Amino acid sequence: MSKMCGIMGYVGNGNGIHATLVGLKRLEYRGYDSVGVGYKKGGDLVIKKCVGRVEDICRRLIPSEDHSTIVISHTRWGTHGKITDENAHPHADCQGKIAIVHNGIIENFQDIKEFLSKRGHQFKSETDSEVISHLIEEYLKTENSFEEACKKAFSMLKGSFAILALASGEDKIVGIRKDSPLVVGIKENESFIASDIYALLPFTKEFIFLQNYDFITVGKGVVKIENLKEGKVERPVEVIDINLEYDGKEKYHHFMIKEIMEQSEVIDRILEKNNGKIEVFSKEISSAKKVFLVGAGSSYHACLYGSYLLTKAGIDSKPIVASEFKHFEKLIDKDSLVIAVSQSGETADVIEAIRIAKKRGAKIFSIVNVYGSTVMRESNDYILMNVGFEVGVAATKTFTSQLIIFLLIYKSIMGEGFDGRELQSKILDLLGRSRREFMEKVVDYLKEKDHVFLIGRGLSFISAEEAALKIKEVSYIHAEAFPGGELKHGTLALIENGTPCIVFVDRENKDEILSNAHEVKTRGGFIIGISPERDEVFDIWIKIPEANEELTIMQVIPIQILAYLLALKKGYNPDYPRNLAKSVTVK
Ligand code: M6R
Repeated sequence: MSKMCGIMGYVGNGNGIHATLVGLKRLEYRGYDSVGVGYKKGGDLVIKKCVGRVEDICRRLIPSEDHSTIVISHTRWGTHGKITDENAHPHADCQGKIAIVHNGIIENFQDIKEFLSKRGHQFKSETDSEVISHLIEEYLKTENSFEEACKKAFSMLKGSFAILALASGEDKIVGIRKDSPLVVGIKENESFIASDIYALLPFTKEFIFLQNYDFITVGKGVVKIENLKEGKVERPVEVIDINLEYDGKEKYHHFMIKEIMEQSEVIDRILEKNNGKIEVFSKEISSAKKVFLVGAGSSYHACLYGSYLLTKAGIDSKPIVASEFKHFEKLIDKDSLVIAVSQSGETADVIEAIRIAKKRGAKIFSIVNVYGSTVMRESNDYILMNVGFEVGVAATKTFTSQLIIFLLIYKSIMGEGFDGRELQSKILDLLGRSRREFMEKVVDYLKEKDHVFLIGRGLSFISAEEAALKIKEVSYIHAEAFPGGELKHGTLALIENGTPCIVFVDRENKDEILSNAHEVKTRGGFIIGISPERDEVFDIWIKIPEANEELTIMQVIPIQILAYLLALKKGYNPDYPRNLAKSVTVK
């Protein structure tokens, strides 16, 4: 069973249960199918865990007066096996004296399980992770201390892992990371450890970013780090001061709509921090012999957009879906520039692509939103989106900001000016209340449908791809995007009376795409046109402002709103769609 999850630990004088629950809530974007907390109470180890969200464990299992100064906790996203209370973390050893939480995959867990079973260990879950607590228990028989037993256990593991372990007789937490992130937060008399700084920002501004094989022992305000490969190491303490003022949902019911509405501010936020970097990227791209763009999901769609603009600027570039990158390995060499695009900076497929490219001698530039993320750290240079945390699983403001960054790079390469105010006012127009009210009409048509097709050409096809992803992931309606000219090569067979087709019309491809819309309508299709101008083929017309290269932004924003409203109408929580997680930290 592999997972990508959020973990958090606390050692200090305060109530660690409360602190880790605050942090876990902020880590739910990494997974939210089950949750658990392990803590010391007196001399005992207490484990509370269940299927559900952080509020479920608080309501059902943890009495508000419970207090502990040493705590580990976990929020989970399972990919194989059942989502059950038993499979939730923490996992204990046979005696219930050791508990661990784990993010990642233990690839050799079957071999370890066999080894441990022969020595009489009994397992309660179907997870790969449970072997860790039993392995520590096993090595405690021969090693001198809890730390030494943990070290020996961790060194047996293959795969990717960020692990925290505690034991009933210990006043510290022990941890390690390999290919899964782990950050320490420092404060006087208190120490925090979590999968990312987002969980820790309410508590501290001082962080240590751990490296692969860093083994940590964390006590009250004391952190010892040793690298299992290099021995004693010093890791710098970084001060990161992020304004948490806009951190909550504010007046909105969901993060998704809050983040959609924030798109009117993204231009200012990007320009505020990255002006110089845009020039650096432009020069580097213009002089590189080979340019590759790599990302996953919406970030891959941003790569398609970036590549489209670079092609327009006469620069050859290849967008590659991160999970397929290794198949292109032979094309990468020391003359290559690889631009990695990732909101979280923790997407496993993107990290793997970066590592492959680095081995081949390529230079890595990245566009990331999360400061301190693995992608940022492993790049030769980076541009920060700087648009604040995106909590909703659906990428909205970060997608728009990726597009704006590519637009700025393109303008810089072309030596053209960029009118940020004009773009901002167009975005504001698209976010207006009347637009949202109008969208209810589209929602009413689509809410009972099982399928929707989306077509566009050129930049509009990229919009169709991104729009389809938004509809699918939050409304669970099957949505599929095609280049307008492709429908007649097979998919037209699916069009029946009333089948909805969203048609993205742009100036350059107007005649051809409208003709494709007619082909659909002739077969009974229902046409929803996204266009600056009305056309008689449209059954519903979603008006957007006239646009040039910023077209994709104009076309996608209305569909973000549509997807959000569809999710609400169907009774789904758009922030936490089923089966998904914000940050996909497994391959
Ligand atoms: O953090 P990243 O940008 O690397 O994430 C990539 C994808 O997982 C992400 O864009 C995903 O497709 C979104 N949920 C789409 O809305």
